[in-house]
Amino acid sequence: MKISCAGMTRIGFLLSVSVCVVFVLFIPWIKLGSLKPHPLLACNITCSNRYIKSRLEVSRLSARGHNQSAALRGWKNYNPQGLGLKANASLQIEDVFIAIKTTRKYHRSRLDLLLQTWISKAKEQTFIFTDWEDQELRQKAGNQMVNTNCSAVHTRQALCCKMSVEYDKFVLSSKKWFCHLDDDNYLNLRAMLNLLSAFPHNADVYVGRPSLDHPVETLDRVKGDGSASLKFWFATGGAGFCISRGLALKMSPWASMGNFISTGEKIRLPDDCTIGYIIEGMLEVKMQHSNLFHSHLENLQKLPQSSLLQQVTLSYGGPENRRNVVRVAGSFSLDQDPTRFKSIHCLLYPDTSWCPNKKPSP
Ligand SMILES: *[C@@H]1O[C@H](CO)[C@@H](O)[C@H](O)[C@H]1NC(C)=O
Ligand SMILES: *[C@@H]1O[C@H](CO)[C@@H](O)[C@H](O)[C@H]1NC(C)=O
Ligand SMILES: *[C@@H]1O[C@H](CO)[C@@H](O)[C@H](O)[C@H]1NC(C)=O
Ligand SMILES: *[C@@H]1O[C@H](CO)[C@@H](O)[C@H](O)[C@H]1NC(C)=O
Repeated sequence: MKISCAGMTRIGFLLSVSVCVVFVLFIPWIKLGSLKPHPLLACNITCSNRYIKSRLEVSRLSARGHNQSAALRGWKNYNPQGLGLKANASLQIEDVFIAIKTTRKYHRSRLDLLLQTWISKAKEQTFIFTDWEDQELRQKAGNQMVNTNCSAVHTRQALCCKMSVEYDKFVLSSKKWFCHLDDDNYLNLRAMLNLLSAFPHNADVYVGRPSLDHPVETLDRVKGDGSASLKFWFATGGAGFCISRGLALKMSPWASMGNFISTGEKIRLPDDCTIGYIIEGMLEVKMQHSNLFHSHLENLQKLPQSSLLQQVTLSYGGPENRRNVVRVAGSFSLDQDPTRFKSIHCLLYPDTSWCPNKKPSP
C-alpha cells in the first residue's frame, strides 16, 4: 500500500514536472513568435535619455533626482550610511561583469580618464565594447577591449548591436551580475557592491535610474490584440544599470545570439529601452528604481556633496555643457579636472599615486 502510494506520487510528480518543463520551455517561444512590429509606437522621442533634448524634460528629471529614501523604498537590508562597511562580504568585485559601451571617437577623450581612475581598481572585471580595432587602446586594455565589429554610427541598430555583444559575453562569463555603463560614467565600485549585495541572493533584479518620470506606453500586440496598452519602465543607459544573472538568463529568448538586435528592430526601440521592454514587458519583472545612478542629462551640480561618495555612478556634461559637473571640493581645480572624476577618485582612493593630497587620517 505504502509502496504503491509512493509510486503513484512519484509518477504524479514526474508528470507534473515534465508538464511544467514543457510549459516553461515553450512560453517564451510562443511570445517571441507572436512578437510583431509596433507601428504605433510613440517611442522614438521618449525612449532614451539620449533623445531627450528639451531642457524642460531635463530639469524635470533632475528635480526628481536626489531623494535617497525614495530610491531605497522596498529594499531590504540596505544601509546607505555604511557604504563599504556593511557590504555583503560574500559579494566581491569579482562577481560583477562591468561593460562599458564606447565608440572610436571617444577612445582618447573619455576612456583614458576612466582607465586612469575607476577602471584601474577593477581591471579584470571591466570590458570595453567598441567598434574599432584601436592598437593604442588594445595595448592599454588588452583582452578587456572587445571589438564588437558593430557600426560606429549612433543609430538604434548600432547601439543594439553592441548591447547584444555585451549580453553574450556576460552570459559566457560566470559572473553573478551584469552592469552596463556609458563611457562618461564614473563607477563607484564600493557603492555598487553595497547596492547589489542588498538584494536577496538569486533574486530577479534590474536596477537603474528611470529615464522618464512615467513608464513608456506602447500598444500591446504581443500578449493582447493590440487594443490594450503595455506600460513599462526602463533604466536609462546613460546612467548605467545592473541585472542579476538569473534574470539575464531568462532574457535569453529575446537577447541571446543576436536576438537582441532583432527584438530592438521589431519593436523599434533603442538599446536601453529594449532591455526594459524585455524585462518588464515580456518577463513581468519590475525594475528597481534607484537614484544612485546619474547621467549627464541631470543637473549634476545639484547633487549634495555629502552624498557624492555614496552614488553608484556619476557623469559630466559634454563639450556642449561643460559646467554640468558634480560639485566636489577636491584637490584638483576645475581646469586640472574638468569632469571632477579625478577629485572623486582621490576622495575614494586617497592612496592613489597621482593624488596630490593624501587624505588626513581620521
Ligand atoms: C518619430 O520621429 C519622426 C522623425 O524624427 C517624427 O516625424 C515623428 O513625429 C516621431 N513620432 C513620434 C510619435 O514622436
Ligand atoms: C523623499 O521621499 C520620501 C518618501 O517618498 C519623503 O517622505 C521625503 O520627504 C523625501 N525627501 C526629500 C528631501 O524630498
Ligand atoms: C570582430 O571581428 C574580428 C576579426 O574578424 C574577430 O576576431 C572578432 O571575434 C569579432 N568580434 C566579435 C565580437 O565577434
Ligand atoms: C549575502 O550573501 C549570501 C551568500 O551569497 C546570501 O546567502 C545572503 O542572502 C546575502 N545577504 C543579503 C542581505 O542578500
